[in-house]
Amino acid sequence: MSDYTPAPTPAIPDATISLADLPLRPDLVGEEPYGAPQLDVPVRLNVNENPWPPTSDVIQDMARAVSHAASQVNRYPDREAWDLRADLAHYLGFGLTADNIWAANGSNEVMTHLLAAFGGPGRTVLSFTPAYSMYPEYARNTLTDYVTRPRREDYTLDAEIVLRGIELTGADIVLITTPNNPTGTTTPVHVVEEVLENTEALVIVDEAYQEFTEVPEDSACALLPRFGRLVVTRTMSKAFAFAGGRLGYLAAAPAIVDACRIVRLPYHLSAQTQAVARVALAHAPSMLERVGDLHDQIQELQDWLRSRGLEVVPSEANFCLFGRFPDRHAVWQGLLERGVLVRETGPEGFLRVSAGTPQEMQAFRQALIEVLADRKDEGQ
Ligand SMILES: Cc1ncc(COP(=O)(O)O)c(C=O)c1O
Repeated sequence: MSDYTPAPTPAIPDATISLADLPLRPDLVGEEPYGAPQLDVPVRLNVNENPWPPTSDVIQDMARAVSHAASQVNRYPDREAWDLRADLAHYLGFGLTADNIWAANGSNEVMTHLLAAFGGPGRTVLSFTPAYSMYPEYARNTLTDYVTRPRREDYTLDAEIVLRGIELTGADIVLITTPNNPTGTTTPVHVVEEVLENTEALVIVDEAYQEFTEVPEDSACALLPRFGRLVVTRTMSKAFAFAGGRLGYLAAAPAIVDACRIVRLPYHLSAQTQAVARVALAHAPSMLERVGDLHDQIQELQDWLRSRGLEVVPSEANFCLFGRFPDRHAVWQGLLERGVLVRETGPEGFLRVSAGTPQEMQAFRQALIEVLADRKDEGQ
């Protein structure tokens, strides 16, 4: 018999404890969890997804892959996700191989790995506004200083703005988003090239929406053989119609991949994620089949919005900014009341709408006509 005496049972914690009572990291006090509203409405055009689900043969293959992964779920998955990375390299082309690719749960996690590895205390990351709203959060979570510089008035970027921004802020890492979220503006590869020729900073080109552009092959990936400090990030969440699968990736020199491998959690990509993503990649033509339609939908929508006297930021992505409304929240609310969810983001007075199915686009147009007519009646 042991002479062990259990410690007195601690008092049951007060179930009403609030965040303010907890020893939260000081820099997180007052912060809110990020996220676009997830509302159950008929027409969701707020997070730039591909609205088309996979075809039934793809669904069946995914189910088979999950079933096979389940038969070995007692074992850890391949920590390096080699097969998936080889498939991603093959999909991207540009002579890339698996050791040029890193993958994680969405490009959100890829970016977090990059900032954990190359940012951190005393390091600064620079982006250009209006910018994707998650960037400051990746920076905050990795204790990296986040600084911004404005894009040009038409939301484009040139090498001078980027290089001057690096000089003024002393940035160690620079983020160039093309097409940019929320504006849809592209930055040509030659601009990225000129930046790389004139900086020591790590240059991350976020190409989350690349497949929607006029010339998707015109990618910063072409510069990878020449520049070891270049990282191109991509995601399967947008054109690839795989947002629920959570798979983002990067292409870079193998040394950059090694840096990400230092900071990742072991086994961060589940066996199921790897297996289902590989099925999606094996069916790439089918998964990407609607990309051309979505591109056309958003181009037509831009023309239509302009024809109604609205201001539109020219976009090459699967979304666009439109406005300007003296009270954009009221327009957002009016659309929501008619079952259409868009995003309240971007410069003052603008809303962002994603490309949907033809029926969804029609519902959006009808709802907007009604909302604007109502507001006119109210003298707004
Ligand atoms: C510019 C940009 N980068 C990255 C992401 C992250 O996508 P995910 O984490 O789904 O791969 C998004 C998502 O909206 C985005 O707009």
